[in-house]
Amino acid sequence: MRYATIDPTRVSWQDLYGLAAGFTAGYVSNLTRGDAAMRMLVTGAAGFIGSFLCERLIAEGHQVIGLDNFFTGRKHNLEPVIGHKDFELVRHDITQPILLEVDRIFNFACPASPVHYQYNPVKTVKTSVIGMINMLGLAKRTHARILQASTSEVYGDPHVHPQVEEYWGNVNPIGPRACYDEGKRVAETLCFDYHRQNNVDIRVIRIFNTYGPRMLMDDGRVVSNFVVQALKGEDITIYGDGQQTRSFCYVDDLVTGILAMMAQDDVVGPVNLGNPTEYTIRQLAELVIEITGSSSKLVKRPLPKDDPTRRQPDISKARKHLDWEPTVGLRAGLEKAIAYFDGVLKSGTADRVSMGH
Ligand SMILES: NC(=O)c1ccc[n+]([C@@H]2O[C@H](COP(=O)([O-])OP(=O)(O)OC[C@H]3O[C@@H](n4cnc5c(N)ncnc54)[C@H](O)[C@@H]3O)[C@@H](O)[C@H]2O)c1
Repeated sequence: MRYATIDPTRVSWQDLYGLAAGFTAGYVSNLTRGDAAMRMLVTGAAGFIGSFLCERLIAEGHQVIGLDNFFTGRKHNLEPVIGHKDFELVRHDITQPILLEVDRIFNFACPASPVHYQYNPVKTVKTSVIGMINMLGLAKRTHARILQASTSEVYGDPHVHPQVEEYWGNVNPIGPRACYDEGKRVAETLCFDYHRQNNVDIRVIRIFNTYGPRMLMDDGRVVSNFVVQALKGEDITIYGDGQQTRSFCYVDDLVTGILAMMAQDDVVGPVNLGNPTEYTIRQLAELVIEITGSSSKLVKRPLPKDDPTRRQPDISKARKHLDWEPTVGLRAGLEKAIAYFDGVLKSGTADRVSMGH
């Protein structure tokens, strides 16, 4: 475990406040704990991936502060951990600074689906850039290790296939997806600049398409789209000719990779995390129809602007440094996601998000 040290010649009110906050929040008792149990901050905790991450961290015996502004996250995603003695939920927007005492920061706050990140693109950039600066500042002050959830979108519409971490990408800086893609690229830049300039202990992962229960029904992501359309017996909309490829990683596999990246001391990243098995969009649609037994038909729509045609991670680095690779096949993962969406549809509970930012 790392502890914040205060240089008396450069002490600031933030340091003093932080110390005081640490005492009052019981941080001192945390100092006596062994390495195994740490104080974890998860931003974006009420979202799809963040909620599974919180659950896993609590199961491993850590203290977890879940932070979220509930833009696309929902409290009920955290039902398994709300009320647990080691879990605290904080409503906060990472574009504002926050003073906390933590050992590890998992920065997952950011809308991830096009429909949400394009709803307020300026806010999306602020979340990636100002939010990242705030979280890196917190990591710097507390000497916490910080892991940034970056994305395969930093590769844009790639000219290199499969995508290796050395590839610099092919991103349109002024297109409708740029608020997300370029925001995440700057967030990576900030991580590495804080690392070089201030010795902040960073980890950067590039996450490829991940799916599972708790995804929002109407967020335009391909797996949730197809599953919901199939369960409702509606036409399944394929953009373009359906020959564009994606790789799909089940959320449990991803969380295992995230924890492995955070735990190891050898590489700061970026490291790709995703499932390297490539499927065409048409194959995905056909598999969803088969598993759901739906009578849905496939209909074609024009490809959205800047939609990448191929996307497949090279996960050699994750295999080598993290001893990690996905274990859940697409059929097995889809069965779990389909069961979740079926339950939500049958219960009639609408998937509402605030969209008020
Ligand atoms: N799901 C994927 O396939 C995927 C792929 C690549 C990268 N990622 C990254 O992983 C992270 C989580 O993605 P997800 O799929 O769980 O998305 P999600 O939308 O379900 O979760 C994002 C969470 O962040 C919260 N949030 C957004 N802006 C915030 C802000 N300014 N302050 C505080 N909280 C804020 C939202 O309310 C939500 O709970 C994102 O950073 C995303 O870019 C996800």
